[in-house]
Amino acid sequence: MRIEKLSGTDTLRRLDELAGLLADAVAHGASLGFNRPLDPGDVKKHLADVARAVAASDRQLFVAVDERGRVQGSAELAFELCADGQRCAMAQKIIVRHVLRGHGIGTALLARVEQAAGHSVVFLDAGPGTSGATAFCRRLGYSFTGSSPQEAGRADDLPTSRAIFSKSLAGAPSAEPFDLEAPRERRAG
Ligand SMILES: CC(C)(COP(=O)(O)OP(=O)(O)OC[C@H]1O[C@@H](n2cnc3c(N)ncnc32)[C@H](O)[C@@H]1OP(=O)(O)O)[C@@H](O)C(=O)NCCC(=O)NCCS
Repeated sequence: MRIEKLSGTDTLRRLDELAGLLADAVAHGASLGFNRPLDPGDVKKHLADVARAVAASDRQLFVAVDERGRVQGSAELAFELCADGQRCAMAQKIIVRHVLRGHGIGTALLARVEQAAGHSVVFLDAGPGTSGATAFCRRLGYSFTGSSPQEAGRADDLPTSRAIFSKSLAGAPSAEPFDLEAPRERRAG
């Protein structure tokens, strides 16, 4: 498994694969900002917007690619304007295909995002996700920063507000080495 940065053209070329990955995550409980039931048109529109933003250098898109060249994970890095007028780095839609979770792929994607962020603080939009997403953020050194009301289409038994985590990269120790191939104990969630 390797992490690659996609260009806008690459994003369009891989659009169906990326859409399949998003659908897999939503089918297994993540919201990722999409209404339910998932409309494939919404997903493709989102990805076309991402491709445009990538081409305009407003966003970066990273993918985890397996040895057969298939996309098994993805992560977006958006640059937004913060309240203080500074440009903020926002990590979004970190996704790993559900059958491959628990092997360090999410960690590798986030490490690459952090490397690309080049900001002292990275915000991570964990969405109204599962406890797994929250545990992932905390494990990677992020602290809960706040939540914002959201979001349409959630199942009744799931949280309805987006959780935002942040992490200061200034003076942070270098990331722990990880081995993407090393199997680890699978977790539920
Ligand atoms: C969150 C997500 C990206 C994690 O991907 P992953 O490849 O399984 O993550 P990793 O294997 O790198 O896990 C890193 C750490 O996060 C924690 N973690 C990840 N998933 C967890 C879960 N379901 N339950 C508890 N802890 C979890 C663990 O502490 C893990 O470290 P450990 O295995 O050494 O204990 C993946 O579960 C996913 O795609 N979820 C759906 C999309 C989503 O909610 N994205 C938002 C994330 S901010």
